[in-house]
Amino acid sequence: MTVSSKPFSRPFHPPQPGAALHCGTVSLEALAKQFGTPLYVYSADQILERLALFQAAFAERDRLICYAVKANSALAILKLLAAHGAGFDIVSGGELERVLAAAPEAAERVVFSGVGKTAAEIDLALNAGILSFNVESEGELDLLAARAQKLRKHARFAIRVNPDVFAETHPYISTGLHEHKFGVAMKTALAMYKRAASSKWLEAHGISVHIGSQIASAEPFGAALERVHKLVRQLAKAGVEIRVIDAGGGLGIDYYNRSFDPGKRVQAYAKAVNAALDGFSGKLLIEPGRFLVAQAGALVTRVVNVKRSGKKTFVITDAAMNDLIRPALYQAHHEIVPVKPRSGKARAVDVVGPVCETGDFFARDRELAPVEPGDLVALLDAGAYGMAQSSNYNTRPRPAEVLVEGRTARLIRRRETIADLLAPEMI
Ligand code: LLP
Repeated sequence: MTVSSKPFSRPFHPPQPGAALHCGTVSLEALAKQFGTPLYVYSADQILERLALFQAAFAERDRLICYAVKANSALAILKLLAAHGAGFDIVSGGELERVLAAAPEAAERVVFSGVGKTAAEIDLALNAGILSFNVESEGELDLLAARAQKLRKHARFAIRVNPDVFAETHPYISTGLHEHKFGVAMKTALAMYKRAASSKWLEAHGISVHIGSQIASAEPFGAALERVHKLVRQLAKAGVEIRVIDAGGGLGIDYYNRSFDPGKRVQAYAKAVNAALDGFSGKLLIEPGRFLVAQAGALVTRVVNVKRSGKKTFVITDAAMNDLIRPALYQAHHEIVPVKPRSGKARAVDVVGPVCETGDFFARDRELAPVEPGDLVALLDAGAYGMAQSSNYNTRPRPAEVLVEGRTARLIRRRETIADLLAPEMI
């Protein structure tokens, strides 16, 4: 199957040059008017297109694409992906509850990652009958064995190994070096599989690896999987048969380049993965998050004020760091585009939110086409780790979310109210 990446590779575009921005065929102005701002808008078409890219790239293999729920955990998006065959990578009991609420039939396609699973979370996952636990320490393996025995449920597991491979990305989201808290050293894996064999409740299902996030080059994935494949051969010699390799997530997008070709990137990734796993005939799992949803989403926000102060111009929006924290937390770049272009020269501005912190910015010294109070701007590529990392800081209700499917748009999460925020509190 070949899938053209062209029509949706950037779903947010003007229908004609100079016209106002749309998501597919749906006007962002109309959505902002109907649902208010700040507003997250997602393109279902693009999410499915991205899923299809992975499916096509690994068509020759027995495979399961386990979407990393943490990137965007909207129930409607989980349901959409599940309906198209995706599994899920979860990191908490809460994420499992989301999968169960959105697509209960997908429980058997869930893998559970994370360094600090509690007994209660393990029990929830055992009762739900998930596919596999990605075990990150010896202590966790013991806990899993104990819970499985107590509940009299078989627990399939993979050991998450740390391949000690460096991946060029932001230090906060790099995970594959021995100094990171994730996974276990390759050399301890064999002993762990052997130990697990003594519990009749544990079933060695696979091996897993995840080296970090927003990794642009295919090379570190290849390097990590070569090491994993070598270990799988060594384990086989020692009598431990591994039938599933979980290659983790982490494939990056390009937040700067508007002509980024997602099809090419997935192909390069698949080529590196397939080369490293040449000869492995078991099942391949991958856990992409960002790549599936980031570019499918935009945060639409209204300009509250344009403030000139000395040489600086601040464009103050009604969205803030609590709605999208990536620029403040990782110095991340998001393209910012006026929804309805005005004529005039672009000028360098800071785009900032109303939160009382200097760190509350979306861009600094960014060339931006002219905007005035009341205008809408779209922060692009905000579909991953946007709403998912939002908070109520400054007692700000979180944005509404809208999913655009073909020609129709529907609300998938209503805007929070102040009453929602106050509800759990007692005086
Ligand atoms: N699998 C595991 C075990 C992970 O820890 C992650 C992400 C993924 C899969 C998905 O990675 P992705 O395909 O999305 O790169 N908040 C940060 C990213 C944190 C990633 C954490 N782990 C950001 O906004 O850039």
